[in-house]
Amino acid sequence: MSVIDHIKARLDIVDVVSPYVALQKSGRGFKANCPFHNERTPSFVVNPDHQSWRCFGACAEGGGAFDFVMKAENMDFGQALHLLAQRTGVQLEKRGDPEKSDILHSINRAAANFYQETLKTEEGRQARGYIDSRKLNDSSVNKFMLGYSPASGDGLTSHLKLHDFKVEQAIEAGLVRQDEESGRTYDFFRGRLMFPIFDRRGNVVGFGGRALDDSNPKYINTSATSIFDKRNTLYALNFALDDIRGQRTAVVVEGYMDAIAAHEHGYTNVVASMGTALTEEQVAQLRTLADKFILALDPDTAGQEATLRSLESSWRVIQSNAVQQRQRSQSALSQWKTTDLRVAALPEGLDPDALIRKDASQWEEIVAGAAPLLEFLIPNVAARFDLTVPHGKSQVVDVIWPLIAALDRLDREQHAQALADAIGVSLEALRASVGNQRASRRQSRRAAEYEPPPEVTESALAESFADPIEEYILALLLDKPDLKEFAENFDSQYFHSVENREVFTNWMSCSKIEELWDSVDESLHPHLTHLTGISLMSMELNETERALAQMLGRLQNRFHKIDQQNILISGPSGEPPPRELGERISEINANIRESEPTGVRRQ
Ligand code: UTP
Ligand code: MN
Repeated sequence: MSVIDHIKARLDIVDVVSPYVALQKSGRGFKANCPFHNERTPSFVVNPDHQSWRCFGACAEGGGAFDFVMKAENMDFGQALHLLAQRTGVQLEKRGDPEKSDILHSINRAAANFYQETLKTEEGRQARGYIDSRKLNDSSVNKFMLGYSPASGDGLTSHLKLHDFKVEQAIEAGLVRQDEESGRTYDFFRGRLMFPIFDRRGNVVGFGGRALDDSNPKYINTSATSIFDKRNTLYALNFALDDIRGQRTAVVVEGYMDAIAAHEHGYTNVVASMGTALTEEQVAQLRTLADKFILALDPDTAGQEATLRSLESSWRVIQSNAVQQRQRSQSALSQWKTTDLRVAALPEGLDPDALIRKDASQWEEIVAGAAPLLEFLIPNVAARFDLTVPHGKSQVVDVIWPLIAALDRLDREQHAQALADAIGVSLEALRASVGNQRASRRQSRRAAEYEPPPEVTESALAESFADPIEEYILALLLDKPDLKEFAENFDSQYFHSVENREVFTNWMSCSKIEELWDSVDESLHPHLTHLTGISLMSMELNETERALAQMLGRLQNRFHKIDQQNILISGPSGEPPPRELGERISEINANIRESEPTGVRRQ
């Protein structure tokens, strides 16, 4: 369940509305004078069965708890979300103080400009030589804003002061350090080739600084700040976004130099994980953009235990997402794409930078021929343990089995066989051992080192507010923006789910999908991911138009039917509705007839 679902589940429309309006019990619902316009006879109705409200008078609006708060408090979706999260005690992910982030972005940008300028001066001569020796071309140097940090130790500090930044801000950004004893400040990066690190929107959030020789450490990076966390940053993502979304494929390399070389050669769906194989946070981000991930790993990294572990956890994040999504969407119209995580092992001694510069076509071949993660993991994990003893075999199973168990049955069979082969046992023996392991683990309640992926329970699903028709409509519109013209006059109120309504309204006023991502509240990003992940049946364009029109009609029809209930619910049961509502009722009836799906229309 999403945070929004959690909040909705804890809200009751009556509680939400009551502080604003004097509700009177009426039939199974509640009535009041509409808080949004002046009126003498109550035309504002709250329907607890349906958790909705509706004004049948002048403003003719309605919706759920979120819509009510947005309207009553004059808030946008994000603000209402915060308010309701607070009220329901649901924890939202913390976001930084926007003003502080702005300052940190601008001080980092100023530092990047300073390093860039320094690179062009006499002081930057050695760094320029180094750049040449690495064969980086000018346009890459400019695009990635490479620079040089002077060796002097206070060049940046003085520069920032001159530009009216406070030393405290520079310290907070991780650009300047302060000696605790003497209180003296000094530049954190000295005498290094500087790689500004951008967030996905292109803000400079930190730096990597490379030594110009073989000295250690090779790189130092900005330590964590309120705008920079290495774990959820992907280097070059700002330049790769469009291409990754376009191809639905991301290639992940390890180093700054690798990413730059790739972009320089036109492989613009490449990002760098900055040292680690891939963190769960990075996977979660990429998951919103692509369905296929290819990790290009140096052979020495690929063999490391740390790499294998991080791949295992990435895989788990991806799988649990996929399972959740599959279960959320039970509509016959949509079916979930499975995520594809592959590993491309590079030839000995060559990292992507070296390979791309040496032989771009070989790079392409290797990326195209990347092996599915489990095909890569099984032999590599098996190689880590002593398979001549039973304990060694069971250790391999311990690591790999949970990953296999998360798969669909068909894939599970295939990989189980591969695992059995790798450790030299029969499939039956493997199955038996898996049964035993599970039982013994539960008994001993040993903290499981490898936890199985979180399960999605039926009850969680029952509470989820997924709405297949609404989601299918949005998936269509997102996939084929040309269809938007058919929805131009569609009233957003017909969407029952506030998330869907929010996505719809924003999308109708955006021209590019990137704009949509930026325009909706961040809390809706997982929902957008969900919507863009719905795979659509391929249809002729005119069929698609017809399907869309039909579904829009269904939403409209459903809306009017709920409206009808809303009006009836507030009347004393068994009695005819009050006369003043009679007109509205016949209007609604007409609307229902009009929007009745074709073929079912009553004569
Ligand atoms: P690499 O050693 O592969 O770096 O480490 P690279 O980018 O290919 O650099 P060159 O080609 O040797 O000049 C991969 C990434 O790991 C992080 C950096 O993000 C680097 O790009 N790293 C590596 C560090 O943060 N610190 C280090 O000391 C080394
Ligand atoms: Mn390298």
